[in-house]
Parts: sequence; C-alpha cells; structure tokens
Amino acid sequence: MKRKILIVFGTRPEAIKMAPLVKEFQKYKNNFETKVCVTAQHREMLDQVLDFFEILPDFDLNLMKPGQNLFTLTADVIVAMKSVFDEFSPDYVFVHGDTTTSTAAALASFYAGIKVCHIEAGLRTYNKLSPFPEEMNRQITGRLADFHFSPTKVSEQNLLKEGISKEVITVTGNTVIDALIYSSKKVNSIYNEDIQILKDKIDINKKILLVTGHRRENHGDGFINICRALKTIAVNNKDVQIVYPVHLNPKVMEPVYDILSGYDNIKLIDPLPYPAFVWLMNKCYLIITDSGGVQEEAPSLGKPVLVMRDNTERPEAVEAKTVLLVGTNEKKIVDYCQMLLYDRLKYDEMKNINNPYGDGNACKRIVDFFLKERDN
Ligand code: UD1
Ligand code: UDP
Repeated sequence: MKRKILIVFGTRPEAIKMAPLVKEFQKYKNNFETKVCVTAQHREMLDQVLDFFEILPDFDLNLMKPGQNLFTLTADVIVAMKSVFDEFSPDYVFVHGDTTTSTAAALASFYAGIKVCHIEAGLRTYNKLSPFPEEMNRQITGRLADFHFSPTKVSEQNLLKEGISKEVITVTGNTVIDALIYSSKKVNSIYNEDIQILKDKIDINKKILLVTGHRRENHGDGFINICRALKTIAVNNKDVQIVYPVHLNPKVMEPVYDILSGYDNIKLIDPLPYPAFVWLMNKCYLIITDSGGVQEEAPSLGKPVLVMRDNTERPEAVEAKTVLLVGTNEKKIVDYCQMLLYDRLKYDEMKNINNPYGDGNACKRIVDFFLKERDN
C-alpha cells in the first residue's frame, strides 16, 4: 500500500524550502500518495512561491488575517488541520522549521496520532526570546517530532544533546540549497519577466546593498534603529544604492516607509518573487538582513552578510566568515557597512563562496530515508 504523505507549510520561507521536497516525493508515485496543505499563514508572499514552483495545494486553509496575532493564528491552524486529517488521514505529516504553522500543525498531528517529520530540525539559540517565538516553536516541534531532518552536523548535535536518538535523525543539508539550484536552473533556461521588471526599477550599475528584515524581536526600536542606519548609509554614500524589498507585515512596513521614503538612492519595493530575489542576491555587493533563509543562501553565492541580530541559530556561516552579527545598534550597522564598502581586504575575506548548508541533495536524502524505512 502507498504511504500517505502530507506536506504542510504556510509562510514564504517554508514554501521555498518545502517546494523541492514536494517535487521529490511526487517522483515516487508508486510509493507515496503525496498531498500539499498550505495554511496560508502568509497569502501574497506564499502565492509568489507556489506560482514559481508550480505547486497547486490540495488543501488551502487560507488563514492569513491582516495584522494577525499568535494566539488566533495558532488556534486556527490546529482546528483547521483536523478537517484535513479527517479527509486525507496521512501516515506522515511533514512540517518545516520554526513558524506558527509548523508547531501548530505538528501539535495537531500529534493529537491525531500521525507521525511528525521535522525538516530543518535542531537549529537552536537556546534563548527563549530570540528569535521570538521561533526558538520555542522549533524546540516544541522537536519534542513532537518522530523523525528529524537536520541540515548540518551542528543541528544534529543539538538534538543528540537533547536526548533524541541518533536513529531518528538524518543529516541532509538544507533544502534551501535544493531550491536555490532549482531556481538558478529554471531562470537560466526560460525568460523571467520578474527579473526584467526589477531591472527597470533599480540602477544595476550602482553598488547595491540588499536589505531585508522582519524579525518580531526587532519590531519597534530595532526597526527604527535599522532604518536610521540605512538612511545614514544612503546619505553618506551617494554612489551606493540600497534596494529593500519590504516584508508585508504592517509592523515592518510602517517604520520602513516612514523613515526611508523619498531618498533617490533608497529603493523600497514589494517582496520579490523568489527567482528575482536570487538574481538580486547574485547582483548585489552586500546583504544586510535579519532573515534566516538569506543567511543560508548567501554563502553559496559568495555574498557577505551583515545580520541584524545579536545571535544566530546558524553558526556555520559565521564560522566560515561570510556572516557577521551586527545586532540592531544604529552606529554598529553604519560602521560595519562603511568598512565593507571601502576596506577591500575585509570585504574579500567575507565574500568567499562556501556551502556549509548543503549540496542540493537534501530532499533526495529525505525521500530516500522513507523509501528505506519501508524495507526495515
Ligand atoms: C512569519 C513567521 C516567521 C518567519 C516569517 C517569514 C511566525 C510566528 N512567524 O513572520 O517565523 O520567519 O514569517 O517571513 O510564524 N502579511 C501580508 N501578506 C503576506 C505575508 C504577511 O499581508 O503574504 C502581513 C499580514 O498583515 C500578516 C502579517 O504580515 O498578518 C504578519 O504575518 P505573520 O506570518 O504572522 O508574521 P511574520 O512576521 O510574517
Ligand atoms: N525572499 C524572496 N523575496 C524577497 C525576500 C526574500 O523570495 O523579497 C526569499 C529568500 O531568498 C529566502 C526567504 O525568502 O529564501 C527568506 O524568507 P524570510 O526572510 O521572510 O524568512 P526567514 O528565512 O527569516 O524565516
């Protein structure tokens, strides 16, 4: 009998990282009946990814509400998952990382007696409040999971230290590298309109500083400091262009548009479809971000990253010297940025291409695990 696989995700980064897994499971139609459930914790930013990867969800819970809060979102996911289980009865539910979708869907699966498979398992800061609520989300999902797919040895070690048995952990690499490779191949083989539109919006002859940000613990003062720093950088460096695809969270959009609108060399744009964002990462000089996924992609592209956080659950790229933690202190962001703009030696030290997060075969390793699991 075919095993029933349900892959659940809801936000942009989960979609990017789960899309290649959906495609890999779909190759084995004789072994698995694979269905996709999106909570749509994000709506527009999720749909951009579904379009690019050509994934049509079997279940779309359509849960996003403008300015949503953690309480209702968590409750809504748990309740809605029950109706999906009633209809499909999966043998395995796959969740990703550390979002509300991931933890609430894992909890619902546990309540329903369904095995939970956690992708991107074992990332930790061990600081409950940073990132908030993601650190607790992934720890809780880790307790609920039956199978853990860790991107690196470091994340595997965290799980082993927490008492999880080695037999249920597989080190796979991060599926984001699978997505990055898929995207690069597809973009090279067909005309991409989004990239053309982007090229018309920005000046590709200028040095580009690419910015993204959304972390909840940076809402409020953190974002105000970040924006002030970006303003100073733009004013002091007229030859440089800041390109900032702004996250749709109102808590992010408000300070960003308030503080940074009206400067010639600051381009505030809508979130970019994945291939256009990858193109821009390749094109830019430096990335300034608090994003998790971007920290993983940038080392593969040889792009230095200033991370606007005090800690990271992704120490591999810090050790490889591609990523530097600068927090949200205004002066520190400006100083490090100026240093990388003008100190060629320091810049070259950081821009080395390395791949601490995978080789593009993470999804194959995950599916292989389940192909073999049947034989045991
Ligand atoms: C969520 C995740 C975070 C992840 C991030 C990736 C949680 C608690 N947070 O944070 O872990 O790193 O996504 O981006 O799971 N919005 C839109 N359209 C969209 C997406 C968001 O309008 O396509 C707006 C809505 O007003 C929404 C708000 O952003 O209510 C917040 O979305 P939410 O998913 O709750 O939080 P994020 O900050 O996006
Ligand atoms: N990304 C994108 N368009 C953008 C900005 C980011 O496609 O305008 C991609 C990026 O390449 C990465 C992912 O979105 O794969 C990161 O998402 P985000 O920063 O929202 O979440 P996090 O990774 O921090 O959870």
